Amino acid sequence: MREADEQTITEAVLARVRAAPDPRVRQVSEALVRHLHAFVREVEPSEAEWDRGIRFLTETGHMCSQTRQEFILLSDTLGVSMLVDAINHRVPEGATETTVFGPFYVPPPAFAPGADISAGRSGRPMYIGGGVTDPEGQPIAGATVDVWHSDDEGFYDLQKPGPDPALSGRGRFATDAAGRFHLWTIRPTAYPIPNDGPVGRMLEAQGRHPFRPEHVHFMITAPGKAKLVTHIFADGDIYLESDVVFGVKTSLIRAFERHERGAAPDGRAMTGEWFSLTHDFRLAPSREGR
Ligand code: BEZ
Ligand code: FE
Repeated sequence: MREADEQTITEAVLARVRAAPDPRVRQVSEALVRHLHAFVREVEPSEAEWDRGIRFLTETGHMCSQTRQEFILLSDTLGVSMLVDAINHRVPEGATETTVFGPFYVPPPAFAPGADISAGRSGRPMYIGGGVTDPEGQPIAGATVDVWHSDDEGFYDLQKPGPDPALSGRGRFATDAAGRFHLWTIRPTAYPIPNDGPVGRMLEAQGRHPFRPEHVHFMITAPGKAKLVTHIFADGDIYLESDVVFGVKTSLIRAFERHERGAAPDGRAMTGEWFSLTHDFRLAPSREGR
């Protein structure tokens, strides 16, 4: 085909990509061309605007490094990560809901039950405890529970300057025979996602704040069960209604309860202010088991 014009260009490109031998590549390519052309028809960008869009994506790529994934942030802040999550985790009734993975996971060190994962960072002590069950409430022994969270200034250990930051605020636990786990750490806080790059400039241009409400991340795995990637959010946080990455679900909000002295659930005698977060997680069967 020659002389494609405003009316015929979309069909010309579609006809070309329909030759893709792999049916999934064909489907994805056709949808990409249809939606991208529809976007351009709707927006009618000037050439300067289109050039600016290309530069934005180029800068997004340049911002990526071993410790920074600006394209994931772009996907998160445009709600695409949560849409992909929703499509891939239509969990059965009774199972814990999922939410966005985020860019701050690394496989954590393993700890004994009740260990403190704060690695000496200062902050307000927080006890985290819970159970892991199937959707009917049957305990799952030997499940792997990975926990990670920011410090009380809103930074993850990986964001600390230097080539090899010491890990803190993350740990791996195994559930006991009754499907229970518990640990100590420090209470995190709400924090802004990294906003010193193109995504931060986009948020500003869109009149949006960069904050996530206070939360603790969990990834829980067990044989025969679907991997659960989720958070528990602190009840009362001012950003629950406007999480910059759209990750909040009502079923994932819990009180981070404040206590003054007394005995913690594991018997530890507390001398000052401390907090507790308890939650039971219900794992869906794996796809093969459904
Ligand atoms: C997080 O919760 O760690 C996170 C999620 C999405 C983007 C940035 C951070
Ligand atoms: Fe987080």
